[in-house]
Amino acid sequence: MIFDRNENKKVVVLLGAGSMGTAIVKRVGAGKTIFIGDINEENLKNRANELKYSGYSVETMKVDALNEDSMRAFAQRASQLGKIKYFIDTAGASPNQAAPEHIINLDLVATANAIDIFAEYIDEGGAGLIISSQTGYMMEFSEEVENQLATTPTAELKNLEFIQNKAMQNSGVAYITAKRANHLRVRNAAATTWGNKKARINTISPGIIVTPLAYDEFNAAGDSYQKMIDSSPVKRVGTSEEIARAAEFLLSDDASFITGIDLLIDGGVIASIKAGMYQLNVH
Ligand SMILES: NC(=O)c1ccc[n+]([C@@H]2O[C@H](COP(=O)([O-])OP(=O)(O)OC[C@H]3O[C@@H](n4cnc5c(N)ncnc54)[C@H](O)[C@@H]3O)[C@@H](O)[C@H]2O)c1
Repeated sequence: MIFDRNENKKVVVLLGAGSMGTAIVKRVGAGKTIFIGDINEENLKNRANELKYSGYSVETMKVDALNEDSMRAFAQRASQLGKIKYFIDTAGASPNQAAPEHIINLDLVATANAIDIFAEYIDEGGAGLIISSQTGYMMEFSEEVENQLATTPTAELKNLEFIQNKAMQNSGVAYITAKRANHLRVRNAAATTWGNKKARINTISPGIIVTPLAYDEFNAAGDSYQKMIDSSPVKRVGTSEEIARAAEFLLSDDASFITGIDLLIDGGVIASIKAGMYQLNVH
């Protein structure tokens, strides 16, 4: 049976078949082709089935965000499926899931690379969304380091003195640096590569959102997350659906004047930290 007779459907590309990414494409993918890439074939299969049995058109491809050739093949395949209206990047690893080097490679360098590559493939008037994190607000960086993180060519990012001497020493610092870099790379791309294509790009920085990734954090981090929740104004965790609602807005034409920004969606955790209600323990 043919569910959709429309040809030339626009494409929604999702890198990272995780919980938040799936919630986002459910909101923006009706009537379009959803093209999902992930390194984990089991995740791809499960997410594709979940979407397929909910009436969406879905294509998948195994892709390793860490590998430039794999990412290029992913972007090329996406563009063969149709014009790319949205690119959403949720591929990431959290501090308690990985060593510092892997976090720098995936959350920082591979994300920067995805921003570069999809600037070439996004359709005019399209929109991008990178999922960063509230942790991007948990350290102060000097102006010099911020400029370097924003503008250093992607292939040279790993060689930065700050990355080599600080971020590579500690998974927490690596994660914070990578997530701050996401904001800065997106801000720069919005004004340059993406802007040149008349495409918009923004980041969302989620707070504590209950997903499998977050469970790995809770299991490893002792009572620090409980304290963070208790001292936050909303006094609870968030859901992927709450991120997806904001993502839908930022991707849509309702946000047509918004580009190069980060939207922090954290139930007020950063506000409570800045107000001295919760003390961070970052070295
Ligand atoms: N869950 C939270 O509380 C939270 C909070 C803030 C930010 N984030 C960020 O949100 C993003 C999505 O997180 P989530 O909670 O939905 O996680 P998730 O684990 O459900 O999804 C991440 C996906 O990325 C995929 N992936 C990992 N390495 C890859 C690679 N090399 N190539 C391609 N795909 C790869 C994984 O297989 C997984 O499907 C991550 O960047 C994470 O750092 C999560």
